[in-house]
Amino acid sequence: MKEKIEAIRAAIGSEIGQTGSRKELFELKMRYLGKTGEISALSKGMRDLPPEERPEAGKLVGDVRKWAEELFASREEELKAKELSERVQKERIDVTMPARFSPAGAAHPVSLVRAELVDIFGGMGFDVYEGPEIERDYYNFQALNIPADHPARDMQDTFFVSGEYLLRSQTSSGQIRVMETKKPPIKVLSPGRVYRSDSDATHSPMFHQMEGLVVDKNITLCDLKGILDEFARRMFTAETKTRLRPSYFPFTEPSVEVDLSCHNCGGKGCRICKGTGWIEVLGAGMVNRRVLENCGIDPDVYTGFAFGIGLERIAMIKYGIGDIRLLFENDVRFLKQFRG
Ligand code: PHE
Repeated sequence: MKEKIEAIRAAIGSEIGQTGSRKELFELKMRYLGKTGEISALSKGMRDLPPEERPEAGKLVGDVRKWAEELFASREEELKAKELSERVQKERIDVTMPARFSPAGAAHPVSLVRAELVDIFGGMGFDVYEGPEIERDYYNFQALNIPADHPARDMQDTFFVSGEYLLRSQTSSGQIRVMETKKPPIKVLSPGRVYRSDSDATHSPMFHQMEGLVVDKNITLCDLKGILDEFARRMFTAETKTRLRPSYFPFTEPSVEVDLSCHNCGGKGCRICKGTGWIEVLGAGMVNRRVLENCGIDPDVYTGFAFGIGLERIAMIKYGIGDIRLLFENDVRFLKQFRG
């Protein structure tokens, strides 16, 4: 019994110094002091001793248990201190390090223009409808009074996807989608991306438009002019005027091209308006009765107007941007100028 106890003392004494963590220490402790540990086995082994040897053996076992418990407790304190100092070391913050740089973002100018338009027209009672970018020929052309082989298709160099599908070349497709499902009174805006095979300083193969459509009884060109006047004043300056020039679109009749008096020179003529005092900003007109008929709306009862605004164009005019490509290069030096 004595030898056994000495062997256990020696083993614990050497093994305890090798424990590197409280978890290891706990495992070691269980091996000796746990319910099925070696010291507990000694206590159980007492039964096999002759009765006269039991008191002494019991004292020896009690001593070694007490000794071991104290040793484990003090090692536990040591390891606790060690683990804490390691953690402090690892999680230390060097307050002299340069701060992490997290540059602030900025809304893209086209997003700014879009939000402003939605705000302006939303305030006049327009709802927002967003249609698909991959569109059927029917919605982009046919229902808008542009049948196959119509020369007006050349006005918009279209990307065809396959069969009757194409990348919409104008948000006017939204007019049809709205009128197909909703009966007048209708007052919607339809903003979104459009695509045309065209690319230079003022044209991009992908750009954004915002369609406006109003259909109700007794809607006239004067209503269109009034709404556009309000848009011009709010988007640019209180003095901005609109001018309607005759134009042609298959889906409107009559059709107009809308100019705004130059917000930069007030109409006297400058670099921005190329000396004319006017800047062309959008196409519009009274909804062609054939388009209303195509959507099951009686043109003898209802009339309407539509307009299509190019968002990049408005952004370029408003912020004095000379090249449309700047809007798509995503150079942060350009974009961060629109912060705040
Ligand atoms: N869809 C036309 C274009 O992209 C603009 C337009 C919209 C004209 C609505 C009239 C009415 O050029």
